[in-house]
Amino acid sequence: MTTIRPFRCDDLFRFNNVNLDPLTETYGLPFYMQYLAHWPEYFQVLESPTGQIMGYIMGKAEGLGEQWHGHVTALSVAPEFRRLGLAGKLMNGLEEISERKRCYFVDLFVRVSNKVAVAMYEKLGYSVYRRVLEYYSGDVDEDAFDMRKALSRDTEKKSVIPLPHPVRPDELD
Ligand SMILES: CC(C)(COP(=O)(O)OP(=O)(O)OC[C@H]1O[C@@H](n2cnc3c(N)ncnc32)[C@H](O)[C@@H]1OP(=O)(O)O)[C@@H](O)C(=O)NCCC(=O)NCCS
Repeated sequence: MTTIRPFRCDDLFRFNNVNLDPLTETYGLPFYMQYLAHWPEYFQVLESPTGQIMGYIMGKAEGLGEQWHGHVTALSVAPEFRRLGLAGKLMNGLEEISERKRCYFVDLFVRVSNKVAVAMYEKLGYSVYRRVLEYYSGDVDEDAFDMRKALSRDTEKKSVIPLPHPVRPDELD
């Protein structure tokens, strides 16, 4: 059986099996601590019966007025536990929290080349709101899709009307 529970500080020393994935970003410790301190309800981990970390989600709520939204900062499931619906469960949890906080939508950024993740988010009801040019830096910079899903508060689904043109990272609000 899989347990979903709040992420704890000591999980940072046990999640290498998840983060070794090249599409999973590893941040500095202060970044994780900031999320744990400010948005602990948005930082959840999946644990196997033997205590192994199977995956996690880290997010936050931010924005003013109709921009008030839930944001997925990181989502990753260890390779041996994929295709079991675990990422979907973590996303549902983040959406429920965002509904309770009366957010208008949930959004996330994903590499345009990450076809598996883009397909998964589409299956979960997300659509591309805008393309962000050279959002990910590296040897070759890569664009991101900013994907969104409207929540029940956004009755007219205004938050997900796609922008007709790409934006640069410095234009993000
Ligand atoms: C993307 C990721 C989180 C998906 O995790 P997961 O637990 O395997 O996803 P789920 O089992 O919940 O899949 C939900 C749906 O997504 C789609 N999907 C997931 N993996 C897929 C794959 N390898 N190929 C095709 N579709 C896939 C399917 O539609 C799937 O539903 P189905 O199994 O009923 O067909 C996981 O592959 C991962 O951790 N990747 C590396 C990190 C990453 O890319 N994170 C996202 C960055 S924004």
